[in-house]
Amino acid sequence: MKGIILAGGAGTRLHPLTKITSKQLLPVYDRPMIYYPLQTLLDAQIREILIIVAPDRAGDFLRLLGSGKEFDAKFTYEIQDKPEGLAQAFLLGKTFIGDDNVTMILGDNIFLGNETFLLNAIRTFSQGARVFAKDVPDPERFGVVEFDAQMRARTIEEKPMRPKSNHAVTGLYIYDNSVVARVERQKPSARGELEITDLNNRYLKDNQLDVCIYDGFWLDTGTFDALLDAGIQVREHRKGLRAQ
Ligand code: DAU
Repeated sequence: MKGIILAGGAGTRLHPLTKITSKQLLPVYDRPMIYYPLQTLLDAQIREILIIVAPDRAGDFLRLLGSGKEFDAKFTYEIQDKPEGLAQAFLLGKTFIGDDNVTMILGDNIFLGNETFLLNAIRTFSQGARVFAKDVPDPERFGVVEFDAQMRARTIEEKPMRPKSNHAVTGLYIYDNSVVARVERQKPSARGELEITDLNNRYLKDNQLDVCIYDGFWLDTGTFDALLDAGIQVREHRKGLRAQ
């Protein structure tokens, strides 16, 4: 299993914080944001990791993370010239992925206290795609899963005005090797992006998408409030660990 951290994008929703740096390098309590998704991959025993960054920030990521040696891992870097969608990661990562399966995590997503759950989810994965849905109070900010009466996923809608459930799709995705060919066939959406939700719906239509309910702590740090909450939650989590 290879790993990808997607850490490009312009971060415009967090201006002026992101005017001269990447969102994924902003502090979350005592670490740069990207350390958290990186730790999630490392906890899942993924050691070969591709980090995708925006062109004008590449040097900062390289200085911060280096070769991966410090983390007992091997890092490769790719530049995404323009933020043309989350699924573009698999085109940029085609050579890196080679013949393997791949887990992608968004560089602004924080999962805490979930090591065993995610490790098992990755270990037991063999084919198709697996995503993680989390019950949230503000599903309209995310990809949202619609379930049928048997709690089987029916479809995923990206940022729906009227969400059909409270289950947001988190920014952690596991795919088999067919992901590259699937994205190569995919068309950009009306906003010009290769949408991860279109990719997941394709797997779903082919009966190959496994939606796991995730009940650990998860935050997407895409708003000022979420960024602040993330710092506070991380501090609480650390205190809990120290108290044990
Ligand atoms: O956080 C989970 C959500 O992430 C999912 O529920 C949604 O289905 C998914 O579309 C995504 O929604 P966001 O609104 O968070 O996507 P955003 O455009 O903010 O991109 C997420 C991160 O990926 C962000 O840190 C920037 C980075 N990014 C984004 C794009 C579009 C890239 O590196 N390259 C890109 O082309």
